[in-house]
Amino acid sequence: MFLSDVTNNPLMEKFLIQTKEFVTWTQQNEREFFEEVMKINFFVPLVFLGGTLFITAPYGKFQWNSLRLPGKFAWLFQESFSPIVFIYSFFIKNLFSITIFTDATYTTTQIILASFWIIHYTNRVIIYTYRAPNIAPIHILPVLVAIFYNIINGYTNARWISLFGRDNYLYDENGQDICKTPRFILGVFIFLLGMMINIHHDNILFSLRNNLDKSTTKSESVKVITNTNSSSRYVIPNGGLFNYITCPHYFGEIIEWIGFVIATWYSYPAVLFLMATIANLVPRAKSNLNWYREKFGDMYPKNRKAIVPFVW
Ligand SMILES: NC(=O)c1ccc[n+]([C@@H]2O[C@H](COP(=O)([O-])OP(=O)(O)OC[C@H]3O[C@@H](n4cnc5c(N)ncnc54)[C@H](OP(=O)(O)O)[C@@H]3O)[C@@H](O)[C@H]2O)c1
Repeated sequence: MFLSDVTNNPLMEKFLIQTKEFVTWTQQNEREFFEEVMKINFFVPLVFLGGTLFITAPYGKFQWNSLRLPGKFAWLFQESFSPIVFIYSFFIKNLFSITIFTDATYTTTQIILASFWIIHYTNRVIIYTYRAPNIAPIHILPVLVAIFYNIINGYTNARWISLFGRDNYLYDENGQDICKTPRFILGVFIFLLGMMINIHHDNILFSLRNNLDKSTTKSESVKVITNTNSSSRYVIPNGGLFNYITCPHYFGEIIEWIGFVIATWYSYPAVLFLMATIANLVPRAKSNLNWYREKFGDMYPKNRKAIVPFVW
């Protein structure tokens, strides 16, 4: 079959014409397109919360024994959509084109915000995947949800910073770049603090499994739970904020995106991302706490909370 046979097919022809019309419309009316995507984005935190309250996303400790993709591959694949879409949307002049903002002079604020996104996702996609001793298989459902969400989240946040939010939010009342304002500096500080908390506690989790292979922790006193579906081995994490909460890496992630919202004060795509992150991670932290209590019983510290130290 030749390419001309495919393109001459009436259905395919109709599809190609409609696609072309959509691309042309979007290029000429991107603001409208952006608002339409934001309408979908608006419902994401609610859908995530509705979903996570009933089902704990099937990966890691909570995986299902069906339709699973290899953990490291699935993680790298699903998460890479966010930085790729972000970088493309930040630099291009027109959506669905390869024309970049050749005449653009990005402000310091825009460069810092874009750098934060790219640094966060360079860690999440490349460094995290490389450093994790193992990532358990992931069901296809959370992979598809993550890809869909990473595309709209990367697009809306990048476009808000580079174009739609710039004039009204990223300059002060005197027309100056907001990068020296106390609120922006506070947001930057909180973002970096959250990132440090997140990475530090991800590292503690990685060290647990690495240490299991060393003779020092092959002691009788360390209880190891093995997931029969994946052979993943779990022990009780300790140290840092693990002494107070079950998921300090999630706590750090939420602090990070609170900082991002404060720095942009306030990008509504960033606010929705923060809400989606909370909707995702807070119920999952509770499921983790319940899981540790069920598997480790009295060995799991009784005063350890789910995600907010001393509170919840
Ligand atoms: N922004 C968002 O909405 C969002 C959503 C999800 C995740 N994240 C971020 O992505 C990162 C990973 O999240 P996650 O949900 O995959 O975290 P997780 O379930 O706690 O797992 C993290 C890693 O540690 C291992 N691990 C977990 N508990 C362990 C234990 N008790 N003993 C030994 N190893 C253990 C896991 O292995 P297994 O894979 O074998 O279980 C995995 O490699 C976090 O930094 C999180 O903040 C962000």
